[in-house]
Amino acid sequence: MGDVDKEHDKDVLILAVETSCDETAASVVKNGREVLSNVIYTQIALHTEYGGVVPEIASRKHIEKINQVIEEALAAAGVTLGDINAVAVTYGPGLVGALLVGVSAAKAISFAAGIPLVGVHHINGHISANYIEHRELEPPFVCLVASGGHSHLVLARDYGVYEIIGRTRDDAAGEAFDKVARAIGLGYPGGPKIDKLAREGNPEAVSFPRAKVAENEYDFSFSGLKSAVLNYLNSCRMKGESVCQADVAASFQKAVVDVLVEHSMRAVREFGCRKFAIAGGVASNSGLRSAFEKECERQGVGFYRPSPALCTDNAAMIGAAGYYEYQKGVRHGYDLNAVPNLRL
Ligand code: KG4
Ligand code: ZN
Repeated sequence: MGDVDKEHDKDVLILAVETSCDETAASVVKNGREVLSNVIYTQIALHTEYGGVVPEIASRKHIEKINQVIEEALAAAGVTLGDINAVAVTYGPGLVGALLVGVSAAKAISFAAGIPLVGVHHINGHISANYIEHRELEPPFVCLVASGGHSHLVLARDYGVYEIIGRTRDDAAGEAFDKVARAIGLGYPGGPKIDKLAREGNPEAVSFPRAKVAENEYDFSFSGLKSAVLNYLNSCRMKGESVCQADVAASFQKAVVDVLVEHSMRAVREFGCRKFAIAGGVASNSGLRSAFEKECERQGVGFYRPSPALCTDNAAMIGAAGYYEYQKGVRHGYDLNAVPNLRL
């Protein structure tokens, strides 16, 4: 056997499945970094009329779509189940009924194909999305995870090994985006809509608070900011003043970004890390990305971020994280359950 064949023998193909919220997703990832396919069926349109994700509808739609999405992922990668080394699946945190669909599908595939089952933490997936487009990135690095359910500042010590430096005390950053979007009449999903509108507004138009948390300088709090936006809107209404949606969007977004940047850069300095990454749905925000780009360049820190499509929920990130778990020897049994509040 030639060297090329030997190299090829060592390739590890992971089939990854993600159903923790409102995207039914499957992907085939080679050696943790190369995405052979990345199929996402998004349910956003279904939930829009309710102004947010309805768990029962999400679970039902996952059941309808999961087999098709997995088959498409295998076909698009040009492989069959016989080529797959392990199946990785998000088992928490997330909506329990939604998670269960992915977990059950992954167990069935693992059993039928006789390949290992590897459960993955959703946030480990988000962070690992950075490995896909930055082949040179290795731990340790500081990472800001900002999604609809989480705002964490972590030190990635090794693959899948995280130390939490700071977390939100109340709302997650994405949750604040969604709630403020609803308040200014933009609807669901709020993050991308605020992002777009903020580009036309003046970020200095309204001065919103940048909350500090006394006990831990790395922790976040966004509920006060959300209330400040609601109060501002109410007082305008009472005074009969018109509200410039774009200015509110831009000023709110700037307040969130300022806090995220300040806390993150302090952690980078404190922990002596020269590498900083962002992850999660909010990491696709254009204002946040350009603020970090500027600040990291100014401070001579390497800045890593997944492209926007890999920031929001997808299965390729689960395949990247799953690969490193698989290499560490992590194997789950058929008693693997969905864990809605799984800790990092
Ligand atoms: O990571 P993700 O897809 O799902 C969770 O694990 O929560 O994050 C979804 C969140 C939502 O709150 C959404 O409004 C927010 O990420 N988001 C954004 C943007 N795109 C998505 N927030 C700000 N700007 C964006 N461009
Ligand atoms: Zn997510």
